Amino acid sequence: MWIDSRQSIHRQFILPEATVPASVVLGAQWGDEGKGKAIDQLANHSTWTVRFQGGNNAGHTIVHGDTTLKLHQIPSGISYEHCNLVLGDGMVIDPWVLEEELDKWHDLTGERPEGKRLFISERASIILPFHRLYDSADRVVGTTGRGIGPTYRDRIERVGIRFADLANLVANEEAIQTQAERMSKQLETVGVSDDIEVDALQSDLKWILERYSDAIRPTGLMIDMALRNEERVLLEGAQGAMLDIDQGTYPFVTSSVTSRANATHGAGIHPGHVDQCFGITKAYTTRVGNGPFPSELSLEEGPGMHMAQVGNEYGTTTGRPRRTGWLDMVALRESNRINGYTGLVVTKLDVLGGLDELRICIGYEMDDRTLHVMPTTSEDLARCTPIYETHPGFPAISMDEWIAMADASRSEDTGFDTFPEVIRKYIARIEYLAGVPIVSVGVGPDRRASVASKGGPFDFPADEATF
Ligand code: GDP
Ligand code: IMO
Ligand code: MG
Repeated sequence: MWIDSRQSIHRQFILPEATVPASVVLGAQWGDEGKGKAIDQLANHSTWTVRFQGGNNAGHTIVHGDTTLKLHQIPSGISYEHCNLVLGDGMVIDPWVLEEELDKWHDLTGERPEGKRLFISERASIILPFHRLYDSADRVVGTTGRGIGPTYRDRIERVGIRFADLANLVANEEAIQTQAERMSKQLETVGVSDDIEVDALQSDLKWILERYSDAIRPTGLMIDMALRNEERVLLEGAQGAMLDIDQGTYPFVTSSVTSRANATHGAGIHPGHVDQCFGITKAYTTRVGNGPFPSELSLEEGPGMHMAQVGNEYGTTTGRPRRTGWLDMVALRESNRINGYTGLVVTKLDVLGGLDELRICIGYEMDDRTLHVMPTTSEDLARCTPIYETHPGFPAISMDEWIAMADASRSEDTGFDTFPEVIRKYIARIEYLAGVPIVSVGVGPDRRASVASKGGPFDFPADEATF
């Protein structure tokens, strides 16, 4: 069946290379920067949104009016009926969580997009109960416990199960037995007493194949074809640059490459397709899970507590309180080194309203040395203390006022001039220190609550949602 769909796509390959490029949206910090909102804003102008790595460790939020969507694996372009959705090659996918997400979407809209406009890559890896159990033994990283690392581990060890493998595997009892034995042995090594039963594994695999057979496709070929047909493609990152397995604060990272270099690879297309790459950063910093965080503040008092309370900083996936701190330019510059942002989206500026002064971390002190780049080991990073510059704060502004400001910026075409001077200066300073143009500033969770730079890539009317 897969062969047929590949062939039919290949036959059309006389089309020239794409002329309309793909855009990438990435977390520029430690995750939860507001990627979902940015993707939702851009998706009306795209025909495809593709998740290229990670799994349901991600929690991406879209807010429109009274409706809030929390997406874990479904790409954040879903609210536009014309937008095709791909769970790409580089992902690890929990089929049970995906079913819950699809059911919720169906309850909300009546739509069942799977196989019609939502496609799962044949090459994506399957998260099974074994992976979740194995992840539950983590005592170091503070993972989301969703089985992400163990599933990638199986992929790297070349023993994992991909969606493409299901059809052959369900008919091969011996292979399933080998898998079940391997899984049970590995659980024992990390002190988890559960066994993986052959029958249970077989019936799980059968269910996954039946449930998703309409949606499993050679998605890399489909996206390549779409680009050749001059359709716009958005590549949606999960997690953030500082959680990247190679470039992040190892070992307190996730198990995939979260960066621009993997956006095309994990989608099954080549890097030449990308022109725009947006880095999403909060106007401050948050982090969930363990690991060093030089500009961290107390959650019990002062600005750190303010950020947590006003910003409602609880993990979208696990509900854990997020750690909070000032904006860290050292981390943001590292993240730009890796990803080469063409534009920065600064989110949650509204949350800083009401603080007397605002700080930006511009370097670290480590053992009497001043650092402007991050040390490589987490031990060294944990010894770094932040060097701050201080800026005047601005008063708290109600959400209605922020939305009115965002609406005015569009109707009067005033861009960042809509903001009071103190905010304009703060944004200009971030832009200068980052060395990347700021293209949008978030002033609330709602899709409409953003002020775009004049004539920039986010400068378009706020769209009506289709849900
Ligand atoms: P993601 O994982 O990067 O998509 O981010 P999350 O959805 O996990 O977390 C971001 C949170 O901030 C969500 O609750 C969003 O609704 C919210 N949010 C996004 N942008 C803004 C903003 O500009 N202001 C405020 N107050 N909230 C925002
Ligand atoms: P989004 O896409 C914030 C963190 C976990 C843990 C580390 C490893 O919503 O920004 P994992 O389960 O991936 O093995 O956990 O990474 N983490 C995230 N933190 N946002 C996320 O996703 C995250 N996904 C993983 O808290 O510290
Ligand atoms: Mg999130």
